[in-house]
Amino acid sequence: MRQIEQGDELRAQILSWRNAGERIAFVPTMGNLHAGHYALIALARQQADRVVASVFVNPTQFGPNEDLDRYPRTPESDAQGLRAAGCDLLFLPDVATLYPFGPANCVKVQVPGLTAELDGAARPGHFDGVATVVLRLFNMVQPDLAVFGRKDYQQWRVIDYLVRELALPIQIVPAAIERDADGLALSSRNQYLSAQERAVAPEIHRSLLALQQGWAQGRDLATLEAEAFGRLQALGFVPDYVQIRRGVDLQKPQAGEREGLVALIAARLGRTRLIDNLELVS
Ligand code: PAF
Repeated sequence: MRQIEQGDELRAQILSWRNAGERIAFVPTMGNLHAGHYALIALARQQADRVVASVFVNPTQFGPNEDLDRYPRTPESDAQGLRAAGCDLLFLPDVATLYPFGPANCVKVQVPGLTAELDGAARPGHFDGVATVVLRLFNMVQPDLAVFGRKDYQQWRVIDYLVRELALPIQIVPAAIERDADGLALSSRNQYLSAQERAVAPEIHRSLLALQQGWAQGRDLATLEAEAFGRLQALGFVPDYVQIRRGVDLQKPQAGEREGLVALIAARLGRTRLIDNLELVS
């Protein structure tokens, strides 16, 4: 696996693969990689001749109260894991490579509508930062396809919108959520849970399953959401939201609308904010 820090070196490598007729897949990350990320690499591997991953802790997607400096950085184990997962190239840009005029003076991308909902409401500006950095990374890597985890459901939808809106010739491939045996969705944040919190954390997934069951029985959505919210509170979570939304635009479904819905939960457990979701199918 090659490791590249400079944009021009990256471009030369991509060009030589492209000239050889090879299909290129891209998996952008912020590092601190776990089995969920390696599953994205495996999916990319299946769909392309070359797999490029990036590790960049993006300052523009962190709010003023979110500690960018404390974001875990694990470069050695990330590189080792990516190599083992079959990644061909690890792109490690620095801040000046992605933001030549500095993050505060950057040209921002803003995806309307979708970004105001759910995590966008809880983390103002977060998705603008994500869209801004992903567009830059796409311009540098110029992949044929890019893989995003469905665990970050809203992020996937924001990137999908961005690509369609700007007519980028990149296929966005969503990857299934990877879970521990007890249902907890894999996340870098799980490492912050105490043993006691870890034991209760799968209740988020159980709540999603209860929402799915109630929805399949035709029960009122607002009642189901309120029940799950209350249940999580009783278990010690501080939920941000428990919502059943239309998957494509994350708006509330119309009365009687049944197709393409997704249940989404964000909740704090101690100091850790967990998110998870489940697409509702009969
Ligand atoms: O999901 C992430 O790790 C980040 O939001 C992403 C897509 C790499 C952009 O910084």
